[in-house]
Amino acid sequence: MTSTANDANTCCIVTGAAGFVGSHLAERLLSLGCRVIGIDDFSSGCWENMSAFEKQPGFSFHECSVTSPGLLAEMRERHPAAACCFHLAAIVSVPYSVEHPEETMEVDCHAAVSLLREAEELGFRRFVFAGSAAEYGDDGRLPLREEYASEKTRHLSPYGRAKYLASAAVASSRIGVALRCFNIYGPRQDPGSPYSGVISRFVDMALQERSYTVFGDGMQTRDFVFVSDVVDAYLCAAGLSGAVPAPPGVYNVGTGRATSIVELAETISAVEGRRARIEHLPERAGDIRHSVSVPEALERAAGWRSRVSLADGLKETVSWARTAGSR
Ligand code: UD1
Repeated sequence: MTSTANDANTCCIVTGAAGFVGSHLAERLLSLGCRVIGIDDFSSGCWENMSAFEKQPGFSFHECSVTSPGLLAEMRERHPAAACCFHLAAIVSVPYSVEHPEETMEVDCHAAVSLLREAEELGFRRFVFAGSAAEYGDDGRLPLREEYASEKTRHLSPYGRAKYLASAAVASSRIGVALRCFNIYGPRQDPGSPYSGVISRFVDMALQERSYTVFGDGMQTRDFVFVSDVVDAYLCAAGLSGAVPAPPGVYNVGTGRATSIVELAETISAVEGRRARIEHLPERAGDIRHSVSVPEALERAAGWRSRVSLADGLKETVSWARTAGSR
């Protein structure tokens, strides 16, 4: 993506800046010459994720929750040039959302809508929201088109429901773009929890020379999208990519390619130059079988499409995990 002269003047708020995707977005915005105000409460992010850019002069950071009333007004007072808000902070654990449905609705939906309203009142140019493929619930009509998610969708978790409601509010605002991201992977994704994404877990297993734990037959599929492609999508949504900004609305962010879990294990092993050893475990309760996006809407709207192949994205992820593991 190329930048334009105007990009250099943009002052952006990134909530969730210490998280996996938020930290990559903040880093890229800084490299384009934008000023970045990072916000995070460290409920799932960490300082380490920001170590590559935290000392840059264009970056300032505020440790606080996105549920703080009047957050954007306060940020505007401190940073009068703030014009664009990327809202990525959220409760990200689906099992946690099942145990804490009210808190999840508060953080993932109500706080997002409050920030959106504040951004509108303060005259922000753009409000870009991190939606999720979970908004499609267990819809079996594949590949998944944006219009399939609706009030009638049977969401499998409070997380999916909250993200759907917030995306719908954002998409109906004149400044709002909601990005419905599929399975994001890449450097800085934490492999440490049983609920971590399958790629971060498998890369960790490969480096420790352990077998891959495949739940069920491994023929279930996902649409894996590399984090730098997702960052490109955020820039397109905000009009910072050098192309026309995406009009308000909701857009899938995926590759349109379905990869089975067995194929994933084999590709990671090929990157590592080893044979894949697979241990089959029982199917995971509540798992959906297949998920794949129709990614064309964002391409039509703003020229975005994923560019990084699974093999290349995995190479970068493995190489990062090697360095991270040796620290
Ligand atoms: C992802 C999200 C979830 C969201 C869902 C909506 C993550 C971690 N999870 O779940 O929050 O609700 O999208 O679309 O981002 N697998 C294995 N072995 C493992 C780990 C996973 O075989 O060790 C399999 C799983 O059974 C699943 C697939 O890999 O079939 C992908 O798992 P995961 O990365 O957790 O993502 P989703 O299930 O798509």
